[in-house]
Amino acid sequence: MNTELMEIKNGTLYYDGCDLTEIAANYGTPVYVYSQNVIKSRIRELKEAFTEKYPKNRIAYACKAFCCTAMFRLLQKEGICADVVSGGELYTAIKAGFPAECLEFNGNNKSRGELELAVEYGIGRVIIDSLQELEMLEKVCAEKEKKMKVLFRITPGVKADTHDYIVTGKKDSKFGIPLDDDIILPYVKAALDSEYVEFVGLHFHIGSQLFENDGYLAALDQTLALAEKIHSEYGFWIKELNFGGGFGVTYTTEERKPFSFFLDPLRENVEAFAMENGFEMPALVIEPGRSIVGEAGITLYTVGSTKDIPGLRNYAAVDGGMTDNIRPALYGAEYAAKVANNADAAADKVVTICGKCCESGDILIKDISLPALKQGDVLALFTTGAYCYTMASNYNRNPVPGVLFLDNGKAEWAVKPQSYENMTAGDVIPESLR
Ligand SMILES: Cc1ncc(COP(=O)(O)O)c(C=O)c1O
Repeated sequence: MNTELMEIKNGTLYYDGCDLTEIAANYGTPVYVYSQNVIKSRIRELKEAFTEKYPKNRIAYACKAFCCTAMFRLLQKEGICADVVSGGELYTAIKAGFPAECLEFNGNNKSRGELELAVEYGIGRVIIDSLQELEMLEKVCAEKEKKMKVLFRITPGVKADTHDYIVTGKKDSKFGIPLDDDIILPYVKAALDSEYVEFVGLHFHIGSQLFENDGYLAALDQTLALAEKIHSEYGFWIKELNFGGGFGVTYTTEERKPFSFFLDPLRENVEAFAMENGFEMPALVIEPGRSIVGEAGITLYTVGSTKDIPGLRNYAAVDGGMTDNIRPALYGAEYAAKVANNADAAADKVVTICGKCCESGDILIKDISLPALKQGDVLALFTTGAYCYTMASNYNRNPVPGVLFLDNGKAEWAVKPQSYENMTAGDVIPESLR
């Protein structure tokens, strides 16, 4: 697990200067806590490895990993862009006052309404995923007398080494445009001829939680071969190339790789290609999500009932579960944890941490060694900053927990916890039942 900005004082776990047991007592559990300093340090590492090496490059944080107005404000302060995938994410960015021109819009089935919002707000780029989308965007731009920069997301036919649910670049995928010449080239021609869109380049995203760079390089080869074909057919060299996100983070024993491990060879290969072909180096873009926020987030729970089944398994139930973290149930994700109020005690008991939802699959961690747990203990689950809050649900009518931003000993709400009142705010008793 990642232990950055964590310390143990008098047996209590502190994170970014905050006593996590006190946080649980003052703000309630379950609650997501994020270290602003860890997020900032990841952004700075990315800048060092990418934008500082070539000023035309852009980092567009994939806000599906963690999205709220406070996060957009932090991104703006750090001077990076963002990638959105829905009208709701787009709306959140604009509500936060995030500059529209710094937004890129991904997604495999954007609605007309979402494209209208994107054009009205004047966002920076739309990443086109299908011919129907291109046609719809052209119509929207024509109606609003605006022009939109577009990239095409291609499926490079690369199988990244990660869980099947987070592989996106293989040919049999719901995402992107297949690379076959007779499919992709007519799209490019249509965009180049269009009055309403400006075709600027190509995009791929091969998967998430990756620790090797060979998949990226293989995808890049395919993309550059397509760029060459586009040039020989239409005399146009791409101006932008987007490599997506996917850089892996530490959940339990994995070792996070430095960003330069992925980004240096990608940049060098594009540079060599541009030089060889005598065209201007395109702007390079990345869309990291998990690697910016994953390790920054911790979920705090309170332990409730415990049960030892002799010779079989020991269980400890917490006051959250698959509603605030679906990843273990969805794709077998593994987590590390500590008892925040008993942080330096010996981990001498094997226990399975289960949630409170009515599903046997609602297990957060199977068989972890921890000090013996008792009712009222505060359990800290690490690396929950990505794809937990944003995937939270109201199953069993559990409210979505709040989000606290920590900063050098100070804790502040970034998202308030959902109340029963606002969870049921949309419920209506139909006339026929009154
Ligand atoms: C198009 C696109 N870009 C970026 C990302 C972010 O990936 P990660 O959070 O692994 O960096 C995703 C994740 O699904 C994606 O689909």
